[in-house]
Amino acid sequence: MSSTDLPVPAQLSVRADWPDPLVSFDGRRVAGREMWERERKPELRALFQHYMYGRMPSASKVKAIVRRTDPQALGGKATLKEVSLAFGPEGCPPLELLLVVPNKRSSSTAAAAPVFLGLNFTGNHTLLADPEIKIPTAWMRQREGVEDHHATPKGRGLNVDTWALEQSVDAGFAIATFYYGDGLPDKPDYADGSYPYFVKVDGAQLGPSDCGAIAYWAWTLHRAVDYLVTVPEIDRERIAVFGHSRNGKAALVAAAFDERIALAVPHQSGCGGAAPSRTQNPKAETVKKINDSFPHWFCGNFKAFNAEPARLPFDQHALVALCAPRPVLFTNGLDDQWADPPGQFETLKAATPVYALYGAEGLAAAEPKLGELVSSTLGYYLREGVHVTDPGYWRIFLEFAARRLKPKT
Ligand code: GCU
Repeated sequence: MSSTDLPVPAQLSVRADWPDPLVSFDGRRVAGREMWERERKPELRALFQHYMYGRMPSASKVKAIVRRTDPQALGGKATLKEVSLAFGPEGCPPLELLLVVPNKRSSSTAAAAPVFLGLNFTGNHTLLADPEIKIPTAWMRQREGVEDHHATPKGRGLNVDTWALEQSVDAGFAIATFYYGDGLPDKPDYADGSYPYFVKVDGAQLGPSDCGAIAYWAWTLHRAVDYLVTVPEIDRERIAVFGHSRNGKAALVAAAFDERIALAVPHQSGCGGAAPSRTQNPKAETVKKINDSFPHWFCGNFKAFNAEPARLPFDQHALVALCAPRPVLFTNGLDDQWADPPGQFETLKAATPVYALYGAEGLAAAEPKLGELVSSTLGYYLREGVHVTDPGYWRIFLEFAARRLKPKT
């Protein structure tokens, strides 16, 4: 489907019910898995890019330069590598990846470790108390350890609990992460990071289907996957993506657009991620609110849905459906209604018929139970609390991934 064939948003019909992912844009029912794979999946990917996230650039060849190796990280439990992932034309800034791989493989059947890949908010140096980890040079939002919008050594080790790296290593998982602003700093201009080397924005605002930040961050995750599939210590069949909040939105988009990703945990990702645009939750973030606060996250067309999200030719269940039959887990806090936990549950329910095409179970629960992990292929977990990532949530991510990502024997 070429985007020139697509109507402008105002010409799309209003659909209060969520559009059925198994009915194509021109109204034909998807007859089975083959038609889903061949026609409807590419169509949905084109629709999501055109009306919501913007067009991702085409892939660019990645060159990995291992800058440092510490085989005795975490008291000898893991090997830490700092790897510059260079791509694009001369001068294009690389992604600075931190890769921590357990030295002991937890399973006798697997020579290589599964990995959680994700964007971090605060820089690799904040995730471990290690005086050598490279500090990001790109623009950063103000917070502790950040001065004049730039990270400083004061941030070292400040967010050890947010990523709980040691806990993952103990569970046999590797972690691969980089600062989300390496690709595009999180502000409404388009001049920094690698983004301007791949996307030309004409004027101060994103054009109708120009690549927004969420799609670009997802695309940088794909570049990290390009590297991870070449690392012998990593099991290329067990690459999971994780992200919190805006980085969770990017994680879900990354999984929906790249089949090499075996599992996704978009944690508390909310509007534009796991939560429906047509939400019924009065406390949840709306399309208008997100577009007004973060104009750089989505393409120009998406703003046309502010008043009427019911014109969207899809809802977020179709994004999850694009991951089928791969496992996806939504995790939430009861007090974080902005991220719309009940709406997210409905998203999973509505994606389930597409999982059924593959004989996968989808969501195996009629309603959420507080504090109980639903560990079906489409998983769900809700606990007391606010908008946060902590070791308690990591215990759930790791439990779900261990159940759902078995090594091939
Ligand atoms: C804001 C925004 C959310 C986002 C969150 C975050 O609250 O409205 O959409 O998920 O920031 O990224 O922490």
